[in-house]
Amino acid sequence: MNWLASIIRSKFLDFFQSNGHEVYKSAPLVIPDDKTLMFVNAGMVPFKDIFLGAQSIKHKAIVSCQKCVRAGGKHNDLNMVGHTARHHTFFEMLGNFSFGAYNKEHAIVMAWEFLVKELQIPANKLCVTYHCSDLETKILWQKISGLSDNKIIEIGTDDNFWRMGDVGPCGPCTEIFYDHGSDIAGGPPGSSNEDGDRYVEIWNIVFMCFESMSDGSMHDLPIACIDTGMGLERIAAVCQNKHDNFDSDLFANIISRIKSLAPGCDDFVYKIVADHLRSSAFLIADGILPSNEDRGYVLRRIIRRSLLYAKYYLHYKGNLLSELLPSLIEIMGTVYWELQDRQNIIDGCYINEEKLFSNTITKGMGYFNALTKDKEIISGHDLFKLYDTYGFPLELTIELAKRHNILTDVEGFEKEMLSQKNRSRVASNYQNIAGTKDLFKMIAQLNIKPTNFIGYEKHEIDDAEVLAIIDQETITLVAEINNIQNAIIILNKTPFYAESGGQVSDKGALMKSGEMIKISDVRKVHGIFMHFISDVKFDIKVGDNIGCIVDCEHRKLVTINHTATHLLHTALRKVLGKHVAQKGSLVDENRLRFDFSHIGKITTKELNDIELIVNGAIHLNLLVEANEMPYDLAIKEGIIALFGEKYPDLVRVVNADRFSRELCGGTHVSRTSEIGLFKIISECAIASGIRRIEALTSIKAFNYLNNRLEVLTNISAFLHVSAASESVEFIEVLEKNKNLIDNLYNQLNTLTIEKIIIDLLNSKVRVGDGEFCYIYKVFVNEDTKVIVAALESLRSKVSNCLVVCINEIGTKRSFVLTAGSDLLGILIKLSAKGLAVLLDRFNLKGGGKNIIQGALPDRNILNPNMLSDFIKSIS
Ligand code: SER
Repeated sequence: MNWLASIIRSKFLDFFQSNGHEVYKSAPLVIPDDKTLMFVNAGMVPFKDIFLGAQSIKHKAIVSCQKCVRAGGKHNDLNMVGHTARHHTFFEMLGNFSFGAYNKEHAIVMAWEFLVKELQIPANKLCVTYHCSDLETKILWQKISGLSDNKIIEIGTDDNFWRMGDVGPCGPCTEIFYDHGSDIAGGPPGSSNEDGDRYVEIWNIVFMCFESMSDGSMHDLPIACIDTGMGLERIAAVCQNKHDNFDSDLFANIISRIKSLAPGCDDFVYKIVADHLRSSAFLIADGILPSNEDRGYVLRRIIRRSLLYAKYYLHYKGNLLSELLPSLIEIMGTVYWELQDRQNIIDGCYINEEKLFSNTITKGMGYFNALTKDKEIISGHDLFKLYDTYGFPLELTIELAKRHNILTDVEGFEKEMLSQKNRSRVASNYQNIAGTKDLFKMIAQLNIKPTNFIGYEKHEIDDAEVLAIIDQETITLVAEINNIQNAIIILNKTPFYAESGGQVSDKGALMKSGEMIKISDVRKVHGIFMHFISDVKFDIKVGDNIGCIVDCEHRKLVTINHTATHLLHTALRKVLGKHVAQKGSLVDENRLRFDFSHIGKITTKELNDIELIVNGAIHLNLLVEANEMPYDLAIKEGIIALFGEKYPDLVRVVNADRFSRELCGGTHVSRTSEIGLFKIISECAIASGIRRIEALTSIKAFNYLNNRLEVLTNISAFLHVSAASESVEFIEVLEKNKNLIDNLYNQLNTLTIEKIIIDLLNSKVRVGDGEFCYIYKVFVNEDTKVIVAALESLRSKVSNCLVVCINEIGTKRSFVLTAGSDLLGILIKLSAKGLAVLLDRFNLKGGGKNIIQGALPDRNILNPNMLSDFIKSIS
């Protein structure tokens, strides 16, 4: 036998399809909104809610080939990769699942038949395990396989009790092992050297029957299910007579490409780089981008780890991951089209990460060099710091240390690692979300059909039937409500749009016998719409017929923004490139917000082009229609779908005359001209590789532009130019000649100050016996700042002056007073009593170090005689 991996994939799906299973395509690597799990780590994950009874069963038997990543959370093989023949951070899992369709025996019969008959694996190369609590399985294996008892091995540990995560479905399992032969090190399962590569687990059949809870307890699942998983990489190696997965056709071309670029290194390095290439590319293709938290952080670690190996082991100068990406796409791109489709963004991430990381590598090496000076051993703490802060894998640091003849405290490192794990377990976000989960579970178990949404056509109905009422405080079902604070109503049909796809929910009211209750929110779970109402003042009973009225004005504004978002998405892809993918959106009655992947800045010209394209599409008055079509066909036709989103087989495509075609359940205008106008009001980066655009439409866009125009009109008036374009010219001239104008202004200012000094000196009045000269002057419409500057200058030149100036601007009069250094003492002496009196008498508010300044309340209050009298009285 020598089956190519792609043949095994299709043989598996065909075999189970012909045995009554529905074929499901692989879900993305992240299940949106599932905070209990970092990545999809097994084939059963997309069906988790079915196992738990929180989602109704559509097909009782399913088969799939699921992309999986085990690089974070409960299942994490990151540190094993490269050091065994069989561990990967990314792998494909072939799996068949039963939700009440068949029992243990049937699952074991099919697995055995597929391996021995379909793939023709010699039965004598196989052995199996079962959990000590599950003797039934032992008996079944004896009957079905005819294996001798020493090949049906009892396992008492958790190795044969499979859990998806710390919380979630779990159960005992039976595993099938392949013996790669005595020339490979390792013992059978359950033996002391079972970790070797000789006996490799190829298939795991889990009898899923419990849900493990966050408090450690276990509850029975509503129905006993079967979950099986066989790693494609492992079975491909077996079928190709290779003992190492990395020698199978899934890896061979990638490894040989690395070897040709950087020959002569240890095998484990080639394996690590090839493995990390796969997991990083698939994660990015499924919408994760490198960042400093959560999933993005794990991705960043994977990329950086491979860059480090490339640099320090392979001594490769370029960006190795970028170099290898085409080889990966060649092997996997036809099955996983997202790799081809997102090649640019994957490559962009590799390049960007290398740029960012080169700095850290240099700092890390600096830290390492500082550590190794005069030291004989690197402590566990420092090993951990290099690992955690600078991204240096442990084995790399050990290798570098060896070259410097320095020891490493690996035990200390393990301790640090353990305490960090404990810390992050406590801080983990990926936990059970209590209230919501209970509500969702209750709704799934109501056994009612998904709500008939009629809101695309109708905005008002009077014959919706109340199917269920939930008291929101206690999350319990009630038969009727009256005088209740918060409740959830479930109807058989509804015109209210439930929040989804970034579009906010409708507003409106429920009506009964002429009375009205406002709806505060509408959400849906598994197709069942929950209408949130508060402050119910009359009674509503299950079985009542009630009316529904959508707030059409609100709906219209939201709808316009939603269609504009689609046009924007298309325009972005036209201007920036096909790599642009939606990362989030918010569409409400006021504005639209669109987050998307793009590395690098967006120029003003690009933004203008984007706006122009959207407004062009509005102007063309395109017909907007929504039709259903099979998901696969939609994808084949290149219709935009969201990464990370689970779609049903039949999808709704919103088509703006082929200018934009997207899978979408939202509400949309009938013709693009209803949008009226589209205006981008902001554009910025919100995370590495993700940008955000906010825009307005229709009357809001018009008002925004009008306000801007008004500002421009005011500027033109201020500059005494007639048109807006002249204002720009004027400002451009000012801007270009800024230095020149500054100089002129300074000169003019000095001139004015000097002129004022001369004026002041000319107007001086000698008072008393000439001990000091008293200067008094009234200015009209002078710049007070200039007077102050002139007084500063004067007092430094004429040490025995006392200067008082009045500046009259319209009806307002201000007052500035200073004294030269000889008289300053007097002023300071005044500060205790006289100055206070002065300030008070003349209502002076200001006052600098040498200058007193303030407004004068009354034109008559100050005259020269009065002030000179006052000064005489204190001198
Ligand atoms: N969920 C089980 C595993 O991952 C069987 O698919 O091993």
